[in-house]
Amino acid sequence: MVTRSTTKQKVLAIETSCDETAVALIHVEKTEDKTSVRVLEHLVSSQISLQLRYGGVVPEVAARSHVPETVSLITKALGKKGMNAFDVITVTRGPGLSTALGVGLEAARTLAFLSGKPIIGVNHLEGHLASAWLNARSRKKWEYPLMALIVSGGHTELVLMKDYCDYKLVGQTRDDAAGEAFDKTARLMGLAYPGGPKIEKLAKTGNKKAFSFPRPMRHDGTLDFSFSGLKTAVRYQWDELKAQGRVDQPGVKEDVAASLLDAIIDILVEKTIQAAKMYNVKGVLLVGGVSASKPLRKELGKQIKKQLPGVAYFPSERKYITDNAAMIAAAGYWHVARGDHEDWTKMELDPEWNIG
Ligand code: KG4
Ligand code: ZN
Repeated sequence: MVTRSTTKQKVLAIETSCDETAVALIHVEKTEDKTSVRVLEHLVSSQISLQLRYGGVVPEVAARSHVPETVSLITKALGKKGMNAFDVITVTRGPGLSTALGVGLEAARTLAFLSGKPIIGVNHLEGHLASAWLNARSRKKWEYPLMALIVSGGHTELVLMKDYCDYKLVGQTRDDAAGEAFDKTARLMGLAYPGGPKIEKLAKTGNKKAFSFPRPMRHDGTLDFSFSGLKTAVRYQWDELKAQGRVDQPGVKEDVAASLLDAIIDILVEKTIQAAKMYNVKGVLLVGGVSASKPLRKELGKQIKKQLPGVAYFPSERKYITDNAAMIAAAGYWHVARGDHEDWTKMELDPEWNIG
């Protein structure tokens, strides 16, 4: 009889790096030829209403709000099983706001002390990478090397994934993140945070050729990005339209939104395809808050099919796009599977922790 080795792990995760408090519990079962993941708890408490009141993320306010939320979500996730609900604790250790990260880290360290179970500190960006792996269909086709575009309100990075837990940062923004370009333009237009979804909605009925906004660094041969020049060009255009008394004319906001969206998509897709070709990867990941953009998801998929036949496409599933703890549990599991160990008494937060 052939005996098959199976390992089972219940991974608890805590994420408090910015303005979402999140706790998750996943069950991973690994046999020789397959890894199955069940997300048992996926709890996220957003601070968006707080942010709207304060006009953005205020670190102290975010941290104070994480305290009761973290306790409440952990209690809910563990349920009656308490400390028996998990085998290992994972927690976001950086990058992020230090006071906010500290709340999750201290909660995780307390659980490690009380339960005597192991703890793993996870890089938030690695969590975003692992968000794409939570999808069963993607896991089936998952083969290294992979190229990942991480695109959010704070990050725009191209990461070469050589293997599990083995990364190289190959491109990044030299100024603003792509999400910031959406958020700041939306603000200019009088629209509340987050700007991305509002720009996407307006763009649906706009003409993307109405304004020709710049595509900085698009053909410069590097894998880096720059969005501040684009943001400034949009501001100048908006000021001009304002001076002409045109901003409230029907279709004008829509045209600005469509032209901005088109420029951002052009830059992101071009660089990602270039990076994927350069490193001869087997698949491309699209993760982070901006990956919620339907036109971006569609265009990157289309260009991969056209320019990189045979290369798989792994956009993060909608429910795991914005900050959450299921993705932290998944990345933490990669480290557990590799046999990584950490000492909770020595674990420290790392607000500037980059990847690769
Ligand atoms: O990953 P995330 O939730 O938080 C950060 O770490 O920043 O990303 C938030 C960003 C914001 O800039 C928001 O405008 C953008 O993601 N975003 C979008 C869309 N949904 C959210 N950008 C473009 N299109 C969307 N549909
Ligand atoms: Zn994030």
